[in-house]
Amino acid sequence: MRPKLVAGNWKMQGSLAENQGLLAAVRAGAADLTAQIAICVPFPYLAQARAVLEGSTVAWGAQDVSEHEQGAYTGEVSATMLKDFGCRFVIVGHSERRAMYGDSDIVVAAKFAAALKAGLMPILCVGESLAEREANVTGDVVTRQLDAVIALCGAASVAGAVVAYEPVWAIGTGRTATPAQAQEVHALIRARLGADTTRAQQLQILYGGSVKPGNAGELFGQSDIDGGLIGGASLVAQDFLAICTAAQ
Ligand code: PGA
Repeated sequence: MRPKLVAGNWKMQGSLAENQGLLAAVRAGAADLTAQIAICVPFPYLAQARAVLEGSTVAWGAQDVSEHEQGAYTGEVSATMLKDFGCRFVIVGHSERRAMYGDSDIVVAAKFAAALKAGLMPILCVGESLAEREANVTGDVVTRQLDAVIALCGAASVAGAVVAYEPVWAIGTGRTATPAQAQEVHALIRARLGADTTRAQQLQILYGGSVKPGNAGELFGQSDIDGGLIGGASLVAQDFLAICTAAQ
């Protein structure tokens, strides 16, 4: 049995004052839960996340990372810097980065490699747009996104990391993929890895896109869904903890 993982993605939200209560509530509520729990915060709040979460069962991480190790890259943050702040996880290839900041498949693969090199656990996001789903090319899109990372890092590395399937049309829209729709793509992702590595059964594949306390249980009950990547609902401690509870 693969352990379940629930990761929060705060996106560009929060303040020192607001975060304090949210982090403390998650820390306290997570103590009795068996699912792995992580929170990916904006860069400036990594020190605060560490201060509140250190010594607890809740890990923390970032939402992006530079593909470069160091140097003249104004505004960028390296994987070793994230490591310096105790990060365990980093999201790479979130659809918002792909769509708004030009993170191509190649760049995402390089970010994945940079994270691994620094000893971070990448959460690699893949997923199709609404137009792509309607054009029946979901499998092609997800496979292309995975293949770029497999080509650079190898299938075994991807199987040892975390993949998050996030249909773009379900992110922040309140429109969730049905458990069957999600399971179908999760199975496809595992099968793609399975073609190249014996470790595909170890891969944790998270579902993301409008996961809420009310739909988490059914999603997480699918055989290839190993937890969730949670945006909006991760900003409300009670909701986030209810989702973590559904992943038991
Ligand atoms: P959502 O976001 O839960 O608000 O839909 C998920 C994500 O973008 O990771």
